[in-house]
Amino acid sequence: MRKPVRIAPSILSADFARLGEEVRAIDAAGADYIHVDVMDGHFVPNITIGPSVLKALRPHSRKVFDVHLMISPVDPYLPGFADAGADIITVHPEAGPHLHRTLQTVKGLGKKAGVSLNPATPVEAALSVLDMVDLVLVMSVNPGFGGQSFIASQLDKISRLRAAIDACGREIDLEVDGGITIETAPLAIQAGADVLVAGTASFAGGADAYAGNIARLRASG
Ligand code: DX5
Ligand code: ZN
Repeated sequence: MRKPVRIAPSILSADFARLGEEVRAIDAAGADYIHVDVMDGHFVPNITIGPSVLKALRPHSRKVFDVHLMISPVDPYLPGFADAGADIITVHPEAGPHLHRTLQTVKGLGKKAGVSLNPATPVEAALSVLDMVDLVLVMSVNPGFGGQSFIASQLDKISRLRAAIDACGREIDLEVDGGITIETAPLAIQAGADVLVAGTASFAGGADAYAGNIARLRASG
């Protein structure tokens, strides 16, 4: 049975000067996962946060911390993010020479493991590890920044992954990340996504608007 649509607000669009407060507000507004975008200025052209910020945020929410690592090399930092309180750790195949080993390490740390596909990364990169992942993340923008436009060609990738996930019978989240709005969310859901990452669309309008933002995205499918 298909899981209900879950919303994963990306704190990349939160007020970084008040991150704890923002995480509490988005949790109270109905976020299912707290999506944490980690960038290193090397794998992607932006720098965000590291394990110490994640650790500082952990007491502010009991929701699933969905940690999206856009860093290379990724392997040396996995224990740090696991210790800091990540629940799901998602990596890109290009972030290390041995994706399978990286995912094994994440599982060995007792965390859920995800694989993330850039717009130009073929679907096969995820198919070959479908037996061990808990989440597949389809990037619908090139990673690095919030507020970019949804790349519609990724809908076909979502559909193909939905079919493969249903066929394999394992419980795997199919998450889409980038350019999710009230217009694009239904397209992603209809293609088969069941977790929507949304930065700009979740954090628009200040804390009083967060619950409405999340509810509208959730209902848009
Ligand atoms: C992009 C990040 C996304 C991004 C989403 O590199 O992985 O999570 O913050 O932001 P919006 O929803 O604004 O496109
Ligand atoms: Zn992300």
